[in-house]
Amino acid sequence: MNVLNRLRAAFGAVTPEGGDPQVFRAAVRATADPKFGDYQANGCMALAKALQQNPRELASAVREAVDLEPTAGKPEIAGPGFLNVRLHDEWVAEQLSVLLNDPAHGLTPPESPRTVVIDFSSPNVAKPMHVGHIRSTVIGDSLARIFEALGHKVVRDNHLGDWGSQFGMILWGWKNHRDDDAYATDPVAELSRLYRLAQARIKAGEKEVEEAARAETAKLHAGDAENRELWTRFMPFCLKALQTIYDRLGVRFDVELGESFYDPMLAEVVADLEAKGLAEESEGATVAFVAGMKAPFIIRKRDGAYNYGTTDLATIRYRGQTWDPDQVLYVVDSRQGDHFKQLFDVARRWGYDGAALEHVAFGTILGADRKPFKTRDGDVVGLESLLDEAVAEARKIVDANSPGIDPETRGRIAEIVGLGAIKYADLSQNRLSDYVFDWSKMLAMNGNTATYLQYAYARIQSIFRRGEIRPEQVRERRPPLILTHPAERGLGVRLLRLPEVLELAALELKPNILTDYLFDLASAYSTFFEDCPVLKAESAERRDSRLALCDLTAQTLKFGLGLLGIDVVDQM
Ligand code: ARG
Repeated sequence: MNVLNRLRAAFGAVTPEGGDPQVFRAAVRATADPKFGDYQANGCMALAKALQQNPRELASAVREAVDLEPTAGKPEIAGPGFLNVRLHDEWVAEQLSVLLNDPAHGLTPPESPRTVVIDFSSPNVAKPMHVGHIRSTVIGDSLARIFEALGHKVVRDNHLGDWGSQFGMILWGWKNHRDDDAYATDPVAELSRLYRLAQARIKAGEKEVEEAARAETAKLHAGDAENRELWTRFMPFCLKALQTIYDRLGVRFDVELGESFYDPMLAEVVADLEAKGLAEESEGATVAFVAGMKAPFIIRKRDGAYNYGTTDLATIRYRGQTWDPDQVLYVVDSRQGDHFKQLFDVARRWGYDGAALEHVAFGTILGADRKPFKTRDGDVVGLESLLDEAVAEARKIVDANSPGIDPETRGRIAEIVGLGAIKYADLSQNRLSDYVFDWSKMLAMNGNTATYLQYAYARIQSIFRRGEIRPEQVRERRPPLILTHPAERGLGVRLLRLPEVLELAALELKPNILTDYLFDLASAYSTFFEDCPVLKAESAERRDSRLALCDLTAQTLKFGLGLLGIDVVDQM
């Protein structure tokens, strides 16, 4: 058990009835300033208040109850009742030398591995992906990587919107306005032109178009041969366009079961809910009422059509039967919060309460005007062109910094730096908040950006190049780690924190906990780099120890960025 968990357990031991572990979790944290030790617990103040005790006395009870050896000595009591823990230097040094050759980066398999289904990306197909899709795609991908790294079984499920009203619009466009030559050259471009055409005319208030498009959707769902044939013909092109983006982003799925997959199950789902008394007629529709919510959850509309929610219920049952998950994460815009509240409530009453269902909500990407991010003409920003622009911006930086690198390599570096910047800008936000999209900030060489971390990694590689030594050689030597300089120790202590950081990121479902850690690590490295000469260290032992710290930093940055879906480069 690590220091954090042992301290948490000690809190439990001094609390009548063991107390709430959630409270203790927040009560203990890593410190930024070594004045307060390496870990600090501030929990005694709040707990003492609740128990009507003296905080310092409570702190000494916790101090007595906790045994942190051989990791650290007894915590020190400070101020009104803080407990400060300082790790033993020898222990830190020993752990670091184990870590140097540990391909698992200090992670140990969990006692009880969980099965986690992650529903992410899940775009509505047949229209090009836009900027709004980036969030679900990168947050979901990163959570999948983090859970996998922690040793859990992950099912990545792209719940494609391949059955909705956008197909009716395309079918209407196809039947009335198609350009066969354009379709022959670029089917997806033509389909999305037809989609936008229908959308524009509906938006302009053309009721006949709206009605006609709706009728096309209804015919598709009812099994109309022509519409089904067209759907089957269009789908492969839509999927291929999506796949191009996923390949470029390095995102993969285990299953891509779209809404259409669940269509044959919907009638039976509604019948079952009715039979169990969970659904009833209301104004001609079939609905489930959810306590505390005004609008009912509609599972069959007045015209007999099934809903988004009906499909989601069928999906919950299918996932339960197929993978028996412990946890299902829905990485979806926070504006769908009410939908998920209702869905989870109905599913639980329906008997699907074996898995924890969680809406991993996120906010909106804003433009400089703090309104939802749009192009100059007011269109939504296409994802493909956004990625191209990021790479072009990154290319400018690489060209300016490293004119000596050959153009082809510069192009490859720019792709990695550009995509990294976009992903990191998104992942480093607390996902619940809206954030302003800003090119200059996301590509800054200094600050909490992927570029800064990639640059730190590349600088470390250049130390090894200049020293004409490979990291593997340092690892083989297993040099004793010397941590007598505060910057060496500060870096060393941080290098050991990755497992606890990942655990917390998985618990709170927040990749920004990992980005904050990586930024803190790179900052500690930068202090070390300024204060502690590596290749010119005063002795061979010191040089090897510092090279080991450099290598550990590089390994951790590479692994950590990898969990965000971001690559590193050896030079930039
Ligand atoms: N296709 C939906 C949209 O674009 C998101 C689907 C999210 N997943 C789900 N199981 N409801 O809004």
